[in-house]
Amino acid sequence: MELLLPPLDRDAASPMYDQLYDTLRAAILDQHLQPGVKLPSTREMCSQLSVSRNTVLEAFARLQAEGYVEGRVGSGTYVTQDLPDALLSARSVSTRESAPSVETMISERGRQIVESDPLPIRPWSRLRPFYPGIPSFELFPLKVWRQLVDRHITPARAADLFHYGASEGLPQLREAIAAYVGASRRVKCTPDQVLVVAGTQQAVDLAARVLLDPGDAVWMEDPGWQCARSAFLAAGAELVPVPIDDDGFDLDAARRRRPGARLAHVTPSHQFPLGPTMGLVRRLQLLDWASSSGTWILEDDYDSEFRYAGQPLPALQGLDTAGRVIYTGTFSKVLFPALRIGYLVAPDALVEPFRAAHALANRHVPAVDQAVLADFLAEGHFIRHLRRVRAAYGERQQLMLERVRDRLPDILEVAPDPAGMHLVAWLPPGVDDTSMAEAAAEAEISAPPLSYYSIESPKRGALVLGYAGVTPAQIKFGIRRLADVLRSALGTT
Ligand SMILES: Cc1ncc(COP(=O)(O)O)c(C=O)c1O
Repeated sequence: MELLLPPLDRDAASPMYDQLYDTLRAAILDQHLQPGVKLPSTREMCSQLSVSRNTVLEAFARLQAEGYVEGRVGSGTYVTQDLPDALLSARSVSTRESAPSVETMISERGRQIVESDPLPIRPWSRLRPFYPGIPSFELFPLKVWRQLVDRHITPARAADLFHYGASEGLPQLREAIAAYVGASRRVKCTPDQVLVVAGTQQAVDLAARVLLDPGDAVWMEDPGWQCARSAFLAAGAELVPVPIDDDGFDLDAARRRRPGARLAHVTPSHQFPLGPTMGLVRRLQLLDWASSSGTWILEDDYDSEFRYAGQPLPALQGLDTAGRVIYTGTFSKVLFPALRIGYLVAPDALVEPFRAAHALANRHVPAVDQAVLADFLAEGHFIRHLRRVRAAYGERQQLMLERVRDRLPDILEVAPDPAGMHLVAWLPPGVDDTSMAEAAAEAEISAPPLSYYSIESPKRGALVLGYAGVTPAQIKFGIRRLADVLRSALGTT
């Protein structure tokens, strides 16, 4: 039969076979496709929609499994003859119009979670140049990783690693992490204080669950990491934006705005996204304040491995004598974010509450990945890889600076950053960064605006440009393209 199908959206979040399934199912329920009617052949559908045969077969298989269609050998696929009337009439009552709104279906806590979604889809959300915080995948030592995976995927290891494991993490990984953060970041801890979690995102969420009650105030760096903000909002916290000065988190401003905060989320090694490092005096003042006022400090040490000039300051946690700092780190930046492994170092008193919260939320991080990572750390592969990517990222930052200054000297202001994986490129005063980021996204460049990371509107707009995960060729091409976009948006030549 002749059936005109709407085109499928290649960029949509749902796969194309799902979209085709939805379209055909709706056509059957609306009786545009009547019971007993033969569907167009897979070949016709492939050519009409310009999709692969597999896409059509997947959609057909699902419709068949759910009873909407039936295959007849040698003859084709037909809409099921005796679809129940109830099914067919269900569609004619508009389900969308009569459905109660989702707010009435979920809890207040659920509503807060929905409203504080850390990853809303924005034009700049797609992973392509220059989405910030993404490491290089082409430099990753795949062969070594594969060998380590093979080492652990054996019958002998399966007896151990395929069982439920301990919520706090594999002992060998906790030891390797404690040794690493002790040596490289002067974090003071024993392996018992290390909890292996699914990235910093989970560490922040656990901190919100364990330490906050609804209505508690949380000091947030502004601009700052929006995913942390979401975790606290979802817990019903009151966010208190704290401005950033040359020394990072402005403690005096925080105290003026809300002295009784229960928790402060800080990135002292390299403020996200603006970049300053918190100096020693400010660190000591913050610790002093925390111990006298009972404020918890959540130290997010997300990218301190990437320092290109000068000595990194040790972690704040190493200076804490009152047990007020919860330290978090991640393997998302040095290895790859989909690994979803990070760690939380808790003060002694909080080890058990955090372990219990983790057991509830996640039980534990996949054990094989933990075992592989433990070997990767203990056998020196991690440090070798880090040296290699650090050198590459230093060069990439340099190249990005040169290209931006060469192509956009009158539009973007950039300064070298002694650390990190991105640059903040300041727009001329008065230019709206969100509309510039939207224009860049149209040209396939993901450059989130500073406003996206801000609670209060920034005084000056900027674009955040990640350089670590993009090759030199992509940097050259991408900056040329960004220059064209910004010039045309701003009407300069
Ligand atoms: C400030 C900050 N902390 C932590 C992370 C890493 O989060 P995760 O370990 O959950 O991947 C990021 C990633 O963008 C970040 O920007």
